[in-house]
Amino acid sequence: MNATTRFCARIVGTGMYVPEKVLTNADLEKRIDTSDEWIRTRTGISERRIASKEESSSVLGLHAARAALKDAGLEASEVDMIIVCTSTPDVLFPATACFVQRELRASRAAAYDVSAVCSGFVYGLSIAEQYLKSGRYRHILVIGAEVNSRIVDWDDRSTCILFGDGAGAVVLRREEVAEPVGVLSTHIYSDGSLSELIHVPGGIGLNGFSGGAIDPKQYCIHMMGNQTFKVAVKRMSEVCREALAFNGMEVDAVSLVVPHQANQRIIDAVTEKLAIPAGKVYVNIHKYGNTSAASIPIALCEAREAGRIGEGDLVLLSVVGAGLTWGAALLRW
Ligand code: ACO
Repeated sequence: MNATTRFCARIVGTGMYVPEKVLTNADLEKRIDTSDEWIRTRTGISERRIASKEESSSVLGLHAARAALKDAGLEASEVDMIIVCTSTPDVLFPATACFVQRELRASRAAAYDVSAVCSGFVYGLSIAEQYLKSGRYRHILVIGAEVNSRIVDWDDRSTCILFGDGAGAVVLRREEVAEPVGVLSTHIYSDGSLSELIHVPGGIGLNGFSGGAIDPKQYCIHMMGNQTFKVAVKRMSEVCREALAFNGMEVDAVSLVVPHQANQRIIDAVTEKLAIPAGKVYVNIHKYGNTSAASIPIALCEAREAGRIGEGDLVLLSVVGAGLTWGAALLRW
């Protein structure tokens, strides 16, 4: 590397996988007191995917990882680190990333999970960015994988309509270039005082396991939807502005915004606040619902395949999730 070149962290492969089983709003109408019209107008969701019994987060993540490696033209043995972003890990431990590492036979990769719920992928990207820009590693696989259907209360109509299962993955490569490309910057935040807005109260570390009866509802998503909605719009728009300002860019320079797919109305409110036209926003929430940490990498993969992202494009990612956590990333493709 000479004085004019620097290390960059560039996405060189994307992949995704969603389970075959489709659960439509019409299917939900048969199970709970809701309507297709309510779900579509309040959320933008028409259907979501549901994992089979055999499909855990590591299984979904493995499919997505294989696709991303193929897209990058990379062997698993060349991967230095595997980060799985998930809030539905296969087991308490070992990390879901270790199961992916085993199946890929990624013999030299470090592997661990990141728990930042819907913000997970941008958190994972931020970690990968540091390792690559510091020159420590050359190839990192960041995967977002979720089986939300396992932690949804199917009797709670205000949450069960929102979530779906799936996985997306990216391969990042360290490159030495004169002009910055790839991940220009990441910006991640948290506010634990808002932890009760969205949470799964059950666990092991707080109460231990008594061997007594377990209340399954404690292992389901509890959400204060309305309050979450407001804080999501505020935090996502703030952090998008910060990412642009940090890089000395104006909103007009953005080619495509890939927001976390939580609710169409949140996406609309954020992009309206930022004065970004709808044509520059990638949306697939109607097909998959909220796939939590998988939502951004799935959307990135689809956007690339649809020709919505090309070389040199400026792509803005933004997320919000339980924690509360939120973040943004600005990428030069
Ligand atoms: N069908 C029909 N009616 C419903 C349904 C449903 N599925 N769900 C709720 N309602 C009713 C409520 O009972 C309420 O009825 P009431 O007025 O008689 O009391 C009415 O609809 C309005 O309820 P609200 O909760 O105020 O509806 P809102 O417009 O806020 O939409 C929603 C709810 C979709 C959950 C919305 O608040 C939202 O998307 N919030 C943000 C979710 C989010 O972004 N989460 C972040 C990421 S998730 C993560 O990190 C795991």
